[in-house]
Amino acid sequence: MKKFFIPMLITLVVASCKTDPATVEEDSTATVTYQEPYRPQLHFSPPAKWMNDPNGMFFYEDEYHLFYQYYPDSTVWGPMHWGHAVSTDMIHWEHLPIALYPDSLGYIFSGSAVVDRNNTSGLGTADNPPIVAIFTHHDPVGEREKRIDFQYQSIAYSLDRGRTWTKYKGNPVVPNPGIRDFRDPKVSWHEASQSWIMILAAKDRVHLYRSPNLKDWTFASEFGAELGSHGGVWECPDLFPLGSEDDMSFQKWVMLVSINPGGPNGGSATQYFIGDFDGTTFTLDPAFAPRVQATPDGNQQAVWLDYGPDDYAGVTFSGVPPEDGRRLFMGWMSNWSYANMVPTAPWRSAMTLPRTLSLKQMPMGWIIRSRPVLEFEALRTGGFEVVRGPEQGEKEITPVIPHAPLPVEINLRAMASPTESVGRFGIKLSNDPGEHLSIGYDPQAMQYFIDRRESGPADFSDAFPKMLTAPRLSDDPAINLRMIIDVSSVELFADYGSSVMTALFFPSEPFNHVSLFAEGGELEWQRIDGRSLQSIW
Ligand code: FRU
Repeated sequence: MKKFFIPMLITLVVASCKTDPATVEEDSTATVTYQEPYRPQLHFSPPAKWMNDPNGMFFYEDEYHLFYQYYPDSTVWGPMHWGHAVSTDMIHWEHLPIALYPDSLGYIFSGSAVVDRNNTSGLGTADNPPIVAIFTHHDPVGEREKRIDFQYQSIAYSLDRGRTWTKYKGNPVVPNPGIRDFRDPKVSWHEASQSWIMILAAKDRVHLYRSPNLKDWTFASEFGAELGSHGGVWECPDLFPLGSEDDMSFQKWVMLVSINPGGPNGGSATQYFIGDFDGTTFTLDPAFAPRVQATPDGNQQAVWLDYGPDDYAGVTFSGVPPEDGRRLFMGWMSNWSYANMVPTAPWRSAMTLPRTLSLKQMPMGWIIRSRPVLEFEALRTGGFEVVRGPEQGEKEITPVIPHAPLPVEINLRAMASPTESVGRFGIKLSNDPGEHLSIGYDPQAMQYFIDRRESGPADFSDAFPKMLTAPRLSDDPAINLRMIIDVSSVELFADYGSSVMTALFFPSEPFNHVSLFAEGGELEWQRIDGRSLQSIW
């Protein structure tokens, strides 16, 4: 029996019971300093209280908008609102007031937003086009009464650059068709058929709808019943054309689908499909499917945008100007297996770094690469380089890192097949009590790994202390590891963003040592360098 929304909510209730209520109470009144233990210094986080998925991300009049699933009354999940922030670079954010509050139709679950430039909806004017948010209304009463039709899609609009929002009187615009899990609409303009397209999660597959005006929607097609991973409910899909890194004029359509549970390292993760879309139907193109192993649940192949456990429900920005042309992505940097229990206060959760997506042809097929946006590089400060050469065992490099050690960006390069005696190699962070986190490559298993088994007290969840792995998808003779390490997270972009892993960690004292390591034999390091990174706050 698949686990759909009810089990998740039950988990959340249990989760909130596991959290010491006294601690939460106390912390919720604490002053926000952005210097609290574990507070991300490079990543967006709400000043206080609970956050999950990024929602409604769009670019308009020189601003990137980020909305997010937000519960302003607690640090555990609850009645959902849309929190709001704006940025000119996707790195430094200005917090704005809550954009959407729950109403008589329900909580405001995940969704998207578009600039309706031609005022197709009639909700604005030709001179002042409306920004339209499309989201799921989740009716908690219907859910309690064990109905199946308590999720439906609604819209709201803004005529003042996203500052204030009015809910549409004719909501919902897509009533529930008798499907229990029916949510997370992502809308985009399909140029070729001059129509709005909505993709949304329907149980463990997606449904597509079409509309001329964002208000009247017609069912178009279904995708995914027999494809990809089905270890849990499908959530937060996205559908867009994506250019090849080697020839930007070559594009394929890409579908992102988050799934919970069923991720490659347990719990939540985001899979993708590459194919074609004619405005009505998405078709997987087998010639573009990476050749990867079948999923443990015996289903068809699944490929993951990020193999780490802490990148979920991510989607892409709409409205990025054609002259920019990037496909920009952000995910929620947590996992439903323990999101409600991680030891942070007075807030819970952060977003991943914003990333640029691109298609790349590899020997094993086509994949999606992700890399931090270029704007991120403005945070770089003092650089460092470690003398290259043969090393064996462990070597501390903390003294060469200016403002050491965190946050820091580290690049490592070594041969993918060093001598037979060399085992795992990479970088290790540790603290005086001896807690440690290592990130690296295992040449025998041909896997990247993040080992957080002993990275700190993990009494908050058995699902947390794990050896996390990702397959290598490149056959380049050299391994390139780029790691962006914030106070309580690491993002590993291996082989130029081909194998990506995001993972959280919570040491009892900050990591204050950084070492290189090579197990088994002597490893010839070809490159070891990096930068300290400035706080965004
Ligand atoms: C994904 C999700 C969505 C839902 C939202 C509720 O993390 O479960 O499917 O809309 O979170 O907060």
